[in-house]
Amino acid sequence: MMTDDGSYGTKGLVTNALKTLIDSGEQYGEVIAIGPLIMMKFVAATTKPYNIKTTVSMNPIMVDGTGMCGCCRLTVGGKTKFACVDGPDFDGHLVDFDEAMARGSLYRPFESTAYDHVCNLFKKEAV
Ligand code: FES
Repeated sequence: MMTDDGSYGTKGLVTNALKTLIDSGEQYGEVIAIGPLIMMKFVAATTKPYNIKTTVSMNPIMVDGTGMCGCCRLTVGGKTKFACVDGPDFDGHLVDFDEAMARGSLYRPFESTAYDHVCNLFKKEAV
């Protein structure tokens, strides 16, 4: 168990613990990573030099989960896939995480503007 602040388990990144376990000589047939894209990206980068099969779950980029919205489009091994239709589990060594993360922030300026100028729910004080 790893936490960023050490409030549970060991303080640090999962990739640090993963590398320590692999380097201890234990043999692993597969690593499964489920969580934030940045964590899965670096788990896959950690296991790649050891040629350990690594499965990642691309649920975080899914929106409607029906194959209709297109939000979960990603590139896996140079081919376009949809997490909700073709996955959500993929070979982590083949996923283009940089592209997926860039797509995830594509509308950030619009969302920020909408939050500041349109949504008044958070501006009201509770009574
Ligand atoms: S989540 Fe909308 S198409 Fe996959």
